[in-house]
Amino acid sequence: MAFENLEVAYEDAVIIVTINRPKVLNALNGQTIDELHQVMAEASSSDSVRCVVLTGAGDKAFVAGADIAELAELTPVNGSAHARRGQALFGLIESLGKPVIAAINGYALGGGCELAMACTLRLASDSSKLGQPEINLGIMPGYAGSQRLPRLVGKGRALELLLTGAHISAEEARLIGLVNRVVPAAELMTEAIKLARELAGKAPVAVRAIIAAVNEGLEMPFSQAVVHESVLFGLVTSTDDMREGTNAFLEKRKPVFKGS
Ligand code: COA
Repeated sequence: MAFENLEVAYEDAVIIVTINRPKVLNALNGQTIDELHQVMAEASSSDSVRCVVLTGAGDKAFVAGADIAELAELTPVNGSAHARRGQALFGLIESLGKPVIAAINGYALGGGCELAMACTLRLASDSSKLGQPEINLGIMPGYAGSQRLPRLVGKGRALELLLTGAHISAEEARLIGLVNRVVPAAELMTEAIKLARELAGKAPVAVRAIIAAVNEGLEMPFSQAVVHESVLFGLVTSTDDMREGTNAFLEKRKPVFKGS
């Protein structure tokens, strides 16, 4: 696949996707959203891909937001379609069924922070800055950031970030649960790929079921969510990988999971 605004590399079962518009700090324009949709759909359906790492080109930004030049042209009619296009991509990433790790290498602002939040896990370099500064443009998040942010950090902190538009450090983001880990900038990609390889070695059906149980369960009443969990649990107990995992433990060896 050749893309205008993405670089795609493969390391065994891990696919590394780099958003490549460094002159505008990797801002997301429509073309980039479409290309990301294409690469994520392919990753979702490919049996050989078990984990995705998503990052930004250069050393300054992961993604500094939606492309403000495009935003400035929006009308009430196409503004809503614009939001739905981004929301569809971010929903696909969140429910890909395979871990997507955001390797945040600098600014993750606006749509960039929303993109990172749609990922399964977030690693940030120690020099990264995160925030939802849309309020300072007279707008609000349109890629589900107003919904994912409170789910990740709680209502009070979400409202503070959304209403002040403040940029917070990677360490502050870690303390409130917005990122999972902070690592020195020089080690970010090594750490992200190491984690991706670790997750790629897990049983794929169980990985998919865990992501679904958490994402879908959070949107259900607890009593329904635990029923949903039990159905997914029943599914994973029917896999060859379940037999391999339990046998490997009893035989004191490392399991080899096949995804069946
Ligand atoms: N959309 C389009 N272009 C963007 C952009 C965005 N979201 N963010 C940065 N750029 C462009 C700048 O216009 C500038 O282009 P130029 O070189 O042609 O002037 C280039 O990227 C570099 O940005 P610059 O502002 O000069 O870098 P900086 O280090 O001084 O500041 C930021 C970095 C991230 C603080 C600043 O660029 C910024 O606030 N960006 C917008 C963030 C935002 O509001 N995102 C939410 C959008 S909904």
